[in-house]
Amino acid sequence: MTYLIAGNWKMNGTPASAKALAAGLAAKAKAGSKAEIALCPPAPLLSAVDAAVAGSPIALGAQDCHANEKGAHTGDVSAWLLKALGCRFVIVGHSERRADHGETDAMVKAKAAAALKAGLTPIVCVGETDAQRERGETSAVIATQVAGSLPEGATAANTVMAYEPVWAIGTGKTATTADIAAVHAQIREVFKATAGEAGGLRILYGGSVKGANAAEILATAGVNGALVGGASLDPEDFWKIIQACP
Ligand code: PGA
Repeated sequence: MTYLIAGNWKMNGTPASAKALAAGLAAKAKAGSKAEIALCPPAPLLSAVDAAVAGSPIALGAQDCHANEKGAHTGDVSAWLLKALGCRFVIVGHSERRADHGETDAMVKAKAAAALKAGLTPIVCVGETDAQRERGETSAVIATQVAGSLPEGATAANTVMAYEPVWAIGTGKTATTADIAAVHAQIREVFKATAGEAGGLRILYGGSVKGANAAEILATAGVNGALVGGASLDPEDFWKIIQACP
């Protein structure tokens, strides 16, 4: 299975910095890399990044989409427009969207369904908060989120899952490899129960992945790539993560 390393730039970058970052990575990727690479810039920078990675194997991804194809939804972006702009992936259900915009599993499911209909691969994010973890609710939260966020028609081939413990995002804390392996195994199980099959399903880990810890995390059982926030803005460190894939 080819590893996927996706850079989630979040709300960072300018046209100039995006172009420089993407072009630098594209030049390296053209010479060969150990993983499939996706860059997910803020929506207004998609075209600049698309142009910068043209002719390289780097794929374009977005950070969110609306559940509808078009209409009166001020400020939102449809999966169909993302597809037309050259996207192959779209992140849905990121914990920052769930927290900042009150996105529920049902909303995430509708967004993932739109992504699939538009021909995009959704990267469906799940993960427990610190409080849920402290209360011993991790596996219950993961089961509910995976089952509730997967739309009809999701398969191991057209969907990517991401496990992102909320307490590990942007904090410098990472889950232990034993915890990661256990949650990834559970996600695979729930995916299979919900979608019917999970063979070949890619499950990314996210939460303070950086060059220094990537090799250990990416070698963990059931981990098929990473969703990288902060470190994806540092071209050298992001490249280290890519090259740390087994
Ligand atoms: P981080 O973010 O790598 O900065 O922790 C990961 C994410 O939120 O996707």
